[in-house]
Amino acid sequence: MKKTILTGLRVNSELTLGNYLGALLPMVRLANKYSKEYAVNIFVPDLHSIISSIDGNLQENTLRSIKYYLAAGLELNENIHIYRQSHVPAHAELAWVLNCVATMGEMSRMIQYKEKSEGKESTNVGIFDYPVLMAADILLYSASFVPVGEDQFQHLELTRNLAERFNNRFGETFVVPEETRKQAEFMGTDNGIRIRDLVNPDKKMSKSTPGENSKIMLSDTPEQAAKKIMGATTDSLENINFDLSTQPGVSNLLQIEALINDRPLGEVIREWQGKTRYGDLKKQVAASVQNLLADFQAKYAAISDADIEKLLPEGEAYANEIANAKLAEVYQKVGLR
Ligand code: TRP
Repeated sequence: MKKTILTGLRVNSELTLGNYLGALLPMVRLANKYSKEYAVNIFVPDLHSIISSIDGNLQENTLRSIKYYLAAGLELNENIHIYRQSHVPAHAELAWVLNCVATMGEMSRMIQYKEKSEGKESTNVGIFDYPVLMAADILLYSASFVPVGEDQFQHLELTRNLAERFNNRFGETFVVPEETRKQAEFMGTDNGIRIRDLVNPDKKMSKSTPGENSKIMLSDTPEQAAKKIMGATTDSLENINFDLSTQPGVSNLLQIEALINDRPLGEVIREWQGKTRYGDLKKQVAASVQNLLADFQAKYAAISDADIEKLLPEGEAYANEIANAKLAEVYQKVGLR
């Protein structure tokens, strides 16, 4: 049996350059590199989307997010399976079983849940529980590698814990995904990738940050995006260095440059280290971002909804077959069958 690489990207609204470079592009590169040796599952977690409000139309967003993968350069072949979560009922069914394995204590420690519920008068149970659904997404397909951004590492650890606990309690059932350190290695990074806010580089780039200049959206014109890079906050040390704690702005630019051009970060650092003119670095990164967006937007415009709708029946038939077989095994192990 081939090992499986699996990932999903929740798309409730448009993506930022940070989402693109931190999650989408690394996944596309991995898929292109490994889709001969591995099964590659790319799915849209549309059931996850409804834990919070949605900008626009959910079904359109779903098609758009699949287009994003293709526009980012995903090369389709028979080992790449694309599907929508809500079209594979086993995800929700396994999530229920795993709910009965997960504990309130561990779920309450999830950082994203804490952040999303903090200061709110009320929080829906979906926000609390969605890491369990994410575990189901992964375990149904026996995925070994789950390339995700750093903000998802804790959910991946939870997935590992639930799989091990289930296996201990009911007998060997799930493949336990690789630990996060190995995941990062597989992705070719020392750690998860976190692209920073251009104005406040101590924070992650996020679409919800107010202020146009903090973030680059994939729909920004290439020229707008280049201007935002030129205006990015740096520091007054006048010495280029990669150090996220003391020089987060400059470090962020180096990281962006490396990711866009698919070059090892170390190599880009060596090229720029010790130079004093931040303007030169910015010009280089601005040009990289400008080219990236121009290319991405041209490819995106060339893909129609119909193109995507043609891909889904194969992907969803495959997904249902694998997922239903695993769910049947689980139902049997817990005594329902
Ligand atoms: N939680 C991820 C996000 O917010 C999306 C996701 C859902 C996912 N299920 C997954 C990613 C399974 C990888 C594997 O972006």
